[in-house]
Amino acid sequence: MKKDKTFESCLAGLKTFEASRFLMVIFGGAGDLCQKKLLPTLFLLYKKGFIKDFTLLGFGLPKMTTDEYKKRAKTWLQKKLKESFDEKIYEGFQKHLLFETADLKKGENYLKLCKKISEITKDDPAYNLMYYLAVPPVLFPTIVSNLSDKELCRRRKGAKIIVEKPFGHDKKSAHALNLKLLDAFDENQIYRIDHYLGKETVQNVFFFRFGNALFEPLWNRNYIDHVQITVAEDLGIENRAYFYENATVIRDFVQNHILQLIALVAMEPPVSFSQEPIRNERQKVFKSIQIFDEKKIDELVVMGQYESGIVNGKKVVGYLDEKDVAKDSKVPTYIAAKFFIDNWRWANVPFYIRTGKRLKKRYTEIAIQFKYPPLKLLGHKCKDLDANTIVFSIYPTQKVSLSFNVKFPGMENIPYPVDMIFDYKDVFKVETPLAYERVLIDAMKSDLSLFARQDGIETMWEIVDPIIKAWERKKILYKYKAGSSGPKEADDFIKKDKRTWRFF
Ligand SMILES: NC(=O)c1ccc[n+]([C@@H]2O[C@H](COP(=O)([O-])OP(=O)(O)OC[C@H]3O[C@@H](n4cnc5c(N)ncnc54)[C@H](OP(=O)(O)O)[C@@H]3O)[C@@H](O)[C@H]2O)c1
Repeated sequence: MKKDKTFESCLAGLKTFEASRFLMVIFGGAGDLCQKKLLPTLFLLYKKGFIKDFTLLGFGLPKMTTDEYKKRAKTWLQKKLKESFDEKIYEGFQKHLLFETADLKKGENYLKLCKKISEITKDDPAYNLMYYLAVPPVLFPTIVSNLSDKELCRRRKGAKIIVEKPFGHDKKSAHALNLKLLDAFDENQIYRIDHYLGKETVQNVFFFRFGNALFEPLWNRNYIDHVQITVAEDLGIENRAYFYENATVIRDFVQNHILQLIALVAMEPPVSFSQEPIRNERQKVFKSIQIFDEKKIDELVVMGQYESGIVNGKKVVGYLDEKDVAKDSKVPTYIAAKFFIDNWRWANVPFYIRTGKRLKKRYTEIAIQFKYPPLKLLGHKCKDLDANTIVFSIYPTQKVSLSFNVKFPGMENIPYPVDMIFDYKDVFKVETPLAYERVLIDAMKSDLSLFARQDGIETMWEIVDPIIKAWERKKILYKYKAGSSGPKEADDFIKKDKRTWRFF
């Protein structure tokens, strides 16, 4: 069968990639990100055979030898990967690990790094060199300056730097960090990571829109009533008050993930499926998002903070009782907002977003809600008709569904809403890669499509800065119970527009 042949050849294609030889210097190689995300991802890539010839050099504060690092790495991987961990595979993987204790604030340690890099790569310029900034952001500028002083950046052919979020804390600081990076590297050596774009279903928005003739003609203000994006987390701040008290939900989720999701839904087809055309189209969307008038912020945004409650059957404390949170903290852990995109395609179509911590479950989806049919032709029951909806379920299930109305069987003429569902799990019996796997592989391939560009990052800050400023001035915050779906005021907010949030 044709379909089976296609499936098999796609599968075969997946297996052919193998990263060329690389050295990844992980600044902060023993930190939280490295333990929970980076090393587990690299282990999985190794297990799948995508990376074979490589060295991971952890460079960071904790005092330990490479042998101790290997032992700790094993514990981190076992804890995180559970049944995906494999002792035998780890035997091979650990041979690629090295650790050097170094205070990254001290210039002399970069001489040590130069020596290490020379030793490992034998100064072969064909050796791929990647720096991963897995350290607190305050260290980013110091590290970049030191790499530059030691001529390990632009001059080091093919060197790449991967920069974690948060990228700055407002437009001004993001711009300053960009200047610092661009002083040392060319733009195409800089990988500003947003792993959300690496999620399989998120990328599918692109394929769904531009790989089918059916939907794109309807993808505009004439047919779409509104878009709803929900990114709900059941987790709290996980002892990261030092980070969250400054970040807030706005910097943690809206400035990056949510705006990227909006761009993906709203972008125009790029002139080709390659990095700059794709990044250009995302940037055009960012540039078209209406900047909030600080005075009207209450009409466009609702912010909340969680109180104690029950999540997944467990009693949890409220935000103010979390470790190291100020007792009078006004930091929002929830936001609902309405964005408008001022362009021909999207004029007056609201993009509702909501995201928050300690909500009733972890749940992520993008819903495209179409307009109601123009006429009520189906009798008195017609008022019960649901509008068509296309939903991209990102977590916990990975699905695309289309809802539409059919006739309920029987003698009466009753319309009934049903779903047409494509579920990744049922169709492709293959495991979908983790978002971090995808973005790391892309970095290895030098494909910047899923990474933010300088102008993109700064425009995203331009959009959220007024929200942050308005919040800093007024600090109006509504409480919600941990384990709920957010503050009641967020429901009132969307009801004012005669719409409701989707149930999750
Ligand atoms: N953790 C996450 O889940 C997560 C998610 C998304 C993005 N990020 C981003 O990823 C980056 C790293 O986050 P993280 O949570 O892993 O941070 P972290 O655990 O606080 O720090 C990372 C590592 O950097 C080390 N370090 C701190 N100061 C140093 C110095 N002067 N010299 C050398 N090493 C130093 C730390 O050592 P000590 O432990 O000894 O202090 C730690 O091993 C941040 O930009 C963060 O925003 C993190």
